[in-house]
Amino acid sequence: MAQEIMQVSPLPPFMMNALQEADYIVHDHAHIKDPGALGKVTALIGTGAAKVDKKLLSMMPNLKLIAICGVGYDGVDVAAAIEKGVVVTHTPGVLSDDVADLTMGLVLSIGRRLPQADKFVRNGDWTDDVFPLTHKVSGARLGIVGMGRIGRAIAKRAAAFDMRIAYNGRAPQPDLPYDYYKTAVALASNVDYLVVAVPGGEGTQNLIDAAVLQALGRKGYLINIARGSVLDQPVLVQMLKDKLIAGAALDVFWDEPIVDPELRRLPNVVLTPHIASATVETRQAMAALTLQNLQAFYENRALPTPVPECQ
Ligand code: 8YV
Repeated sequence: MAQEIMQVSPLPPFMMNALQEADYIVHDHAHIKDPGALGKVTALIGTGAAKVDKKLLSMMPNLKLIAICGVGYDGVDVAAAIEKGVVVTHTPGVLSDDVADLTMGLVLSIGRRLPQADKFVRNGDWTDDVFPLTHKVSGARLGIVGMGRIGRAIAKRAAAFDMRIAYNGRAPQPDLPYDYYKTAVALASNVDYLVVAVPGGEGTQNLIDAAVLQALGRKGYLINIARGSVLDQPVLVQMLKDKLIAGAALDVFWDEPIVDPELRRLPNVVLTPHIASATVETRQAMAALTLQNLQAFYENRALPTPVPECQ
C-alpha cells in the first residue's frame, strides 16, 4: 500500500521525482488539498528550514517519522516528537565536504576581497586605479567554534593553507593537534578568522555576541556557515559599521531569505544565500540518504541516520 507522507518545506524536483517513483503519496503542508490528509500522514519530510512544532505534531495522530534532508534540525521540536513516539532523522556526513569548501571560499573572499576585486575589474576601474593590498590568509590564525564533523572538515582544509588552527567546543578532543579554548571569547581573542560551525537551536542562540565580536577585534573576520540564530546579527551590523571588526562572511541569516538592508549595504561583508551544501552532487546525496531513512522506516529496518537524541 502506498504510504502517505507530507512535505513541510519546498523540496527539490529530483527529490519529488524520487519520492513519486518510490510510490509515496506526497501531501504539501502549504497547500493541503485532502482535508483528511493530516490523519493519514505517517511521515514528514523537509529540509533544514522545516518548522515542526508541538502544534503541528498534535494535528497528526499517526505520525511516526520526521525525515529531515539536512544536517541541522533546529526547526524540529525533537523533545515533543520523542514524547509522541516520533523518530527524527537527518543527513549528517554527506554535506561536510561542501560546507567546508564553501567556508574556505568565504575565508578567501573576505580576506582577499575577491568580490570587490571582481567588481573592480568589471567596472573598468583597473585602467586608472590600483586595487588595494589585502591580507595574507596562508599562515593566519583560524578559530573554529564547534568542532564536529563540519568543523573537522574545515580544519583539514585550513591546515593545507598552513593556518594555525584553534577551536572551542563542549570539551577538548584528544585526537586533535589544535589548541583548545574553553570559551568562544578566549578563542576569538586569539585568532584572525573566527568560523562558526555549531548546530542551531536554543542552546546556541546568540552564542556569538558583542563580547565574542569585541574579542575578535578590529582586525578579525567572522565567518558564519552554521545558522543565523547563533549570531547576534544587529550587534554584528553595528560593529561592522563602527569598524570594530574587520569584516564578516555570512552564508546564513536571521529571518532568511530576507536580509537586513543595512547589512546588504556594508562594504566589509561577503554574503551568500545559504548555499554551503548546494551542489548537485551533495543535494542528491542528501536526498538519497533521506529516502533511505524513509524506506528503512517503512520496511521496519534500523534507521541509517537518526538524530543523536533518537539513537
Ligand atoms: C540546507 C542546511 O538548509 O543541512 C543543513 O542543515 O542548512 C542545508 O544543507 C537544507 O537543509 C538543504 O536541504
